[in-house]
Amino acid sequence: MKVLICASAAEVVARAAKTVVAKVRAKPDAVLGLATGATFEPVYEELVTAQRAGVISFAKATTFNLDEYVGLPTAHAQSYRSVMRRCLFDHVDIDPARAHLPDGMASDPDAEADRYDALIAAAGGIDLQLLGIGVNGHIGFNEPSSSLGSRTRTKDLAPPTIAANSRYFAPDENMPRQSITMGIATIMEAREVLLVATGAAKAAALRAAIEGPVSAFCPASALQFHPRATALCDEEAASGLALMDYYRGIDHGE
Ligand code: GLP
Repeated sequence: MKVLICASAAEVVARAAKTVVAKVRAKPDAVLGLATGATFEPVYEELVTAQRAGVISFAKATTFNLDEYVGLPTAHAQSYRSVMRRCLFDHVDIDPARAHLPDGMASDPDAEADRYDALIAAAGGIDLQLLGIGVNGHIGFNEPSSSLGSRTRTKDLAPPTIAANSRYFAPDENMPRQSITMGIATIMEAREVLLVATGAAKAAALRAAIEGPVSAFCPASALQFHPRATALCDEEAASGLALMDYYRGIDHGE
């Protein structure tokens, strides 16, 4: 895995946005895999700015988000569909019909998961998949012990994820406990993967993902098998890495 360590979270955001801009400029009909989460909100802000400035267009692009809560009405402010509309879709020239998320309100979530995998395949697969990482090492909502061969499916959320995401819901609100998430094998089929992590809270998970053994205990560690995976992080998130000097030495600013 290529590891790029930036001096600040702002630099991480700029570099992540630059990677997406370069991809869409090189391939206007690119298929992008998108992630939700606080890490990506400023990245999407930069993409909105870039599109408004005419640097890129999403008019021919297709997107697939990693995951969605099961049982949360799409119109709810915290559904990932709503979050993506607020952060990106409503502000750029993307065709809403090509901005995909799993339907968490589907009457048959398992069938919806299969449909989603098939839709990704029919679009020709994902060119660039953006990934955040959970404090427990999850990618998408693939919680620890997820099969490394998993496809898109329903998945129960783990307690650390419920604790981390409950901040988005009112205290008297029952936050969803289940998701539909791309599987790890689905994610591994993306032609290129960019894992982004900022802040000290991600340090242990990032270390396990990059330098730990490949294990379902840390789902992000599966990326060690990906031929084109990059981890982009700030100093705080990188603080647990053993080979920091080596990573710095091989970062040529590309
Ligand atoms: C969420 C999402 C992930 C996201 C992760 C980190 O639960 N399902 O796709 O990458 O947790 O989120 P954040 O960037 O807010 O730390």
